[in-house]
Amino acid sequence: MSKFIAQPTNTLHGNLKVPGDKSISHRCIMLGSLANGITEVSGFLQGEDALATLKAFQAMGVDIQREGDKVTIHGVGLHGLKKPNTALDLGNSGTSMRLMLGILAAQKFSTELKGDVSLSKRPMGRVIDPLMQMGAVIGSNQGKPPLKIKGGQSLKGIHYDLPVASAQVKSCVLLAGLYAQGETCVLEPETTRDHTERMLKGLGYPVNVVDNKMCLTGGGKLTATQFQVPSDISSAAFFMVAGCIAPQSDIVLKGVNINPTRTGVIDILKLMGANLELLNKREIGGELLADIRVQSSNLKGIQIPSELVPLAIDEFPVIFIAAACAQGETVLTDAQELRVKESDRIQVMADGLNILGIQNQVLEDGIKIQGGSFQKPTGVIQSHHDHRISMSFAMASARCQYPIEIDGVDNVATSFPNFVELTNSIGMKIVQR
Ligand code: S3P
Repeated sequence: MSKFIAQPTNTLHGNLKVPGDKSISHRCIMLGSLANGITEVSGFLQGEDALATLKAFQAMGVDIQREGDKVTIHGVGLHGLKKPNTALDLGNSGTSMRLMLGILAAQKFSTELKGDVSLSKRPMGRVIDPLMQMGAVIGSNQGKPPLKIKGGQSLKGIHYDLPVASAQVKSCVLLAGLYAQGETCVLEPETTRDHTERMLKGLGYPVNVVDNKMCLTGGGKLTATQFQVPSDISSAAFFMVAGCIAPQSDIVLKGVNINPTRTGVIDILKLMGANLELLNKREIGGELLADIRVQSSNLKGIQIPSELVPLAIDEFPVIFIAAACAQGETVLTDAQELRVKESDRIQVMADGLNILGIQNQVLEDGIKIQGGSFQKPTGVIQSHHDHRISMSFAMASARCQYPIEIDGVDNVATSFPNFVELTNSIGMKIVQR
């Protein structure tokens, strides 16, 4: 098991380009494989999660070539996938499993999906339920992986009110809807990331979106295109927080995706008083990008508005680090989803904050954090093999005056393969052992 040792730093300077967006990279492979023609992708995230999706589609007979972050997908059309020889192993990736389930539920052949220890504990009932309503036949281990999907079922469209604000569930149902008879509609209780809808439209598939309801009709086709994957705001978020909490900093994050369904972290940090500006806004391939400049900030604690929770869902671990450095209390509620991510991110973050001497109170659906100063760690922080926990505590070294040790950091490569190198390039001092 490898660990990070993060030495104290207080000056951060420079420009950074973080890797490609994970959500978009997964969808490039899935939708490019199901399209007719050759889809070319640049800026693809070379992280283990997106590569798990790529390998799974190769295993289903799709010719996909990759050179670094450039990927060429020879699409086989909606009905051209082939039965894989073995169970598809999706590693740590919940997005691969939930979205692919929607596609596989509608295939002529049966398949099995499995994952690592963390993925095997994550709830899949949320995607199995609507798919069964559509006519899919899926076996599971009490709602958890491995999943056995029976081929040869014909699906019918449904109107589904999402019980949780989840882009993965929305996307799963819409992808199954591509194969279903009639119209499939999904109504989400709060806005969630909209990459599936945007990219389907980019591949020429009509999706009707009115407020938080999105509908499509099965039986159409996807036409190959080119995708330029922008930098992932979820990876950029680590440096937004580091830039705010470091006593002396001025950093610019280049070409970050600022799709409005992903910018909750920017809104939350601004409400906390972050010295953060969006520069050079532009649109590329249907997504909004900006360079984000961050400088040292005097953060203050806030009550996080509930409607921002789904828009910042992956960024809370590092937002908690910002809250630990803010003046006053930060309160997060309505965020029970954090308990079923790669780890229970409320409890695991609370445990790590305790080691750094930050007072907090765990709530069933969130946390209260009393801002203060990091103390000499009383032990080694356990990431529970959750990439975002590891990277979040590494950022605390921009403010803490003592070395911080974080155990179980191998999974950082699932979303951010060159994390240590990039982080150190702006002045941090992280060693991986
Ligand atoms: C994702 C959606 C989010 C997010 C995950 C990626 C996606 O999950 O946490 O990392 O690509 O659709 P939920 O929509 O289930 O909250």
